[in-house]
Amino acid sequence: MRESIREILARPEAGGEVSVQGWVRTARHGKKVSFLEVNDGSSLSGVQVVVGPECPGFDTEVRGLGTGCAVEAMGKLVESPGQGQIYEVHAQTVEKIGGVEEGYPLQKKRHSFEFLRTIAHLRPRTNTIGAVLRVRDSASRAIHDFFHERGFVQLHAPLITLSDAEGAGQMFRVTHLDPSDVPKDESGETDWSQDFFGDSAFLSVSGQLEAEIGAMALSRVYTFGPTFRAENSNTARHLAEFWMVEPEVAFCDLSELADLAQAFLQSVFVRVREECEEDLAFFDQRIDDSVLSTLANVTEEPFEKITYTQAVEILEGAQRDFEFPIGWGTDLQSEHERFLTEEYFRRPVIVTDYPKGIKAFYMYLNDDDRTVGAMDVLVPRIGEIIGGSQREHRLSRLQGRIADHGLSEEDYWWYLDLRRYGSVPHAGFGLGFERLVQFITGMANIRDVIPFPRVPGSAEF
Ligand code: 4AD
Ligand code: MG
Repeated sequence: MRESIREILARPEAGGEVSVQGWVRTARHGKKVSFLEVNDGSSLSGVQVVVGPECPGFDTEVRGLGTGCAVEAMGKLVESPGQGQIYEVHAQTVEKIGGVEEGYPLQKKRHSFEFLRTIAHLRPRTNTIGAVLRVRDSASRAIHDFFHERGFVQLHAPLITLSDAEGAGQMFRVTHLDPSDVPKDESGETDWSQDFFGDSAFLSVSGQLEAEIGAMALSRVYTFGPTFRAENSNTARHLAEFWMVEPEVAFCDLSELADLAQAFLQSVFVRVREECEEDLAFFDQRIDDSVLSTLANVTEEPFEKITYTQAVEILEGAQRDFEFPIGWGTDLQSEHERFLTEEYFRRPVIVTDYPKGIKAFYMYLNDDDRTVGAMDVLVPRIGEIIGGSQREHRLSRLQGRIADHGLSEEDYWWYLDLRRYGSVPHAGFGLGFERLVQFITGMANIRDVIPFPRVPGSAEF
């Protein structure tokens, strides 16, 4: 493995020999010299390779190099006279490693993100998607480090499950039955007991219930993995497959959970700002000019904390024609969430204690019997980025909530057992990882912050 371009550019001084491997972004061929802008994805910046006639193959191979070609150049690292670059390479040899056939779809001009989605196998070679993928990686590491430093154990939750963790019924079925010949029971219904797992099985919508098992033994755990939702929503904030980070903490209440969520988000933002300075400056310049100022704001100031009831009062008092009417008992829509964070408070807002009727069965029932210990973290541009709650740890209340939701106790027997054997107050949340990356980068569509988006009608690549 050779030095990456990032490492070459970080050298303290020019002067040495270098070998550069990467793809040509642009090639300019003058009479006596060729300039190749070579990028290997290790950083936004590539390096300029300057090739003269003394280089073997100058008139043949080098002159034929164009956008997309893979090359290896060896030469001297010299200080660059050009603006915006520290070093360039004066090549002694240039070798074409992989040529480009007619019709390379990526050209120098800016392509629309819609178009780039149709060539997801090539789009990581663009400045924007390359930067997204590096920020994604940095954020992912920052998340693991945050929890590791605080003694959380990473729990690997299963992807295949028999239970609907959110109780919302938006699940993808996992089956190995032949769709043209499914076994039937006496009443003519599909006999799922003959399926692979002996029951109806699905892709998991959340690792939370298993994380609760972990927390009831290891006190602090988190999961970080893909989750799946068969909701048919074609929005810029929904994917059918997305990554979720779900910490779960024993002996923890809602207010401690809100503190954890704030510390967690802020620490991730700080880390990504440190590690991805060049990429973030690019997003600020080319994608959304509020990226840097927003990141600075949210890391420096505490988040606002209000109850759902207060949020509804604010929204009702706003002189605003919302598309969805707001009233106590209705869920907050994205337009409401954005009003609160972008216009009213101008910072992230933690909304707590939602009506029990609009939240999942496992949330802690408050003494008022109308609200639950739920917590959503809302941020500018995105709206809900985190959803969490204190969990109902009292057996009889949980049984009541399962019945209220029309779910069956049988399906949740092990979840109920946790309330029978050494139950303690506990709480956790789920961060939508792609929404986090969207927030950090300012990217408008969630499909452009995951390498291979899965959405209704599309799962190519
Ligand atoms: O609010 P949600 O549905 O909460 C849960 O799944 C809980 N089990 C989490 C927990 O308490 N452990 O989802 C959590 C977050 C949302 O706030 C949102 O950021 C993201 O997951 N999310 C999605 N992201 C992309 N596409 C989708 N279809 C999403 N649905 C939820
Ligand atoms: Mg939610």
